[in-house]
Amino acid sequence: MKDIILDCDPGQDDALAILLALGSADINLKAITVVGGNVSVDKCYLNAMKVLTFAGRTDIPVYRGANRPLKQNLTTLENVFGESGMAGTENWKIPKFFVPQENAVDFLIKTYSNANNYPHLCATAPQTNIAQALLKQPQISENIPGITIMGGCVFPEPLRGRMGNISVNGDDVYAEYNFAMDPEAADITLCSSIQKINLIGLDITRRVLYNGEVDTRIRKIGTKEAIMIADMLSAIGPDDMEDYAPVKKTPTDPIRALHDAVAMCYLVDDSIFKIEQIPIKIDLKNFRGQSLIAPEGRVVNVIRDINKQAFFDILCDSIANLKR
Ligand code: BDR
Ligand code: CA
Repeated sequence: MKDIILDCDPGQDDALAILLALGSADINLKAITVVGGNVSVDKCYLNAMKVLTFAGRTDIPVYRGANRPLKQNLTTLENVFGESGMAGTENWKIPKFFVPQENAVDFLIKTYSNANNYPHLCATAPQTNIAQALLKQPQISENIPGITIMGGCVFPEPLRGRMGNISVNGDDVYAEYNFAMDPEAADITLCSSIQKINLIGLDITRRVLYNGEVDTRIRKIGTKEAIMIADMLSAIGPDDMEDYAPVKKTPTDPIRALHDAVAMCYLVDDSIFKIEQIPIKIDLKNFRGQSLIAPEGRVVNVIRDINKQAFFDILCDSIANLKR
């Protein structure tokens, strides 16, 4: 069983990453840290607690971190995820209590300063918390055995052939959201001494789409949990309705990418992915947040391909294993 700390900004796809971990016999989710991203950090905190309550796992601590990137303003994505950040979960139980916890950055520093078996990090949001921890205590990077990141877009994404999903110049220059939102933080992570970096970019995650067929398959699992998860995933915001219009089978086909769940799946079973070692650097100027191939960059494991069928099998097994 792998010990994992997840840094996230739920977000339906982050929520699915949490649920995938909780339903998997291969992952021991030790803690969740949240950061402002898809919605404000307070909403992300509540959403993480909501997912843990849903899965009956309020024993897992949640730590609240930064609400804004290191050097720019936060752009939240209510048009993708809904006002709460998790549209479609309105009937999920509201967590009844919040145990006050230390700050996410301090928690990360403490965790990577004095443990014996250091957990692997999974990052599915702007990496502000992680960068702040590395800036405050740079020596912890050597204790981080690895980080699996949903972020970047090393090759053009398959839907529109862009290098990301968010315009970084108000026009035709695109970068992936997690890197575009905090390019300095992504750069700090990449330039750190973290022992191993796995990068799962938009060019891969946009190949793994939720749609009417997947929705039917999940509902057929037949548990109350599976139906509630399908309700969450099929609550598609107006931006995704428009973005995925070219690949819809019917006008109401509930299409969204399952980005962060794909990153978590890499930690469940990396044999269903193909990787290539590629030197990457983060652009901090005109193409802010783009993940560029550059000889002087950090050599990372870039995920180049995924067995989609196997991914959905793993996802459905995990969902079927969830008990409330
Ligand atoms: C990433 O950005 C967020 O909106 C998603 O949760 C995912 O982590 C995709 O670009
Ligand atoms: Ca996310």
